Amino acid sequence: MHSHALGLEIGWFFDEHIYQTELRQLFESGAGYVAHELLIAPGETAVELPWLAENCALERFGADFFLAHRQKDGSIRREPLKAWNGLLFRGPRSPEQDLGLGRLEKFLRLDGYEHGHTLIHDYPFGWKTFVETHLDDYHVDYCHPGLSGFLDCGELEVAEGPWWSWQAAPAKQGRFSAPGPWEEWARLAESFGGEREIGGLWLCYYPGLMVERYPFALAVSQAIPTGVESCRNVVELYFPQRLMKTDLPILAKRAYLETLKEDEAICAAIHAGRRALWKEGRSEEGPYQEPLESGLRHFHDFLRQEVGRTAQSENEIARKGRKI
Ligand SMILES: [Fe+2]
Repeated sequence: MHSHALGLEIGWFFDEHIYQTELRQLFESGAGYVAHELLIAPGETAVELPWLAENCALERFGADFFLAHRQKDGSIRREPLKAWNGLLFRGPRSPEQDLGLGRLEKFLRLDGYEHGHTLIHDYPFGWKTFVETHLDDYHVDYCHPGLSGFLDCGELEVAEGPWWSWQAAPAKQGRFSAPGPWEEWARLAESFGGEREIGGLWLCYYPGLMVERYPFALAVSQAIPTGVESCRNVVELYFPQRLMKTDLPILAKRAYLETLKEDEAICAAIHAGRRALWKEGRSEEGPYQEPLESGLRHFHDFLRQEVGRTAQSENEIARKGRKI
């Protein structure tokens, strides 16, 4: 079934004013993901967060978590963080109130998990392009032979709230069509008892947090804006402590990186195409394919609602100001 709504107009991906409005309206005023509480290893009380622009560390005192900002005079300012299923946030929003995932929330409550790897990549395309690709399931069968060998996007389940959406795809039954790290990971996970009922669960909490759950693995991925046409992606991978000494963490990391690399190529191609149109002064938006692109439609509606109206009225004010 095709919906007839249109995608975002091309200025959204190149306009400095819109970008600045996004930083203010979404990233400074939204729920700012900091890290998972499991990032602090047992026995430790603090860990550095080198991917944050500021000089910060995550600290734990008992059950409470803080972001420690080192000031120029050497003193430390501590910002209390809000926790939701182990994810720690700063900022004015309440993840507790924002996020209602229903029956799927239980898969984010991790018992006996620990931090495995952190992956950091800087990309030459904007944060929205990265989030769009995460939300779009239309490309999975065409662009991710490994991932689509494991998951059945034909059976996709979707849900959404004002600041989030999630998508869940069940694991395919039977043989893998493409051998590789996804197959090896799935087989190994199976040998440890499965968690096959999870398949793939992808939560997107706007603006840029993506929480992904697979059998015996949690990936917490952030798209951090670094410019109108650039962003940074930080992914924390967590695995059950009892499986840390097995091949599962390394196979999961390999599989995840395979899909990430494929997504990077998609994002780069989309960005190059949009850049060419932008230079020619053209904009092309197409209809959404439902349900595979319903997450994409919801993200665009959210942006128009939270950023578009402000950017538009500010533009009008600026124009009127210039006329005077
Ligand atoms: Fe993808």
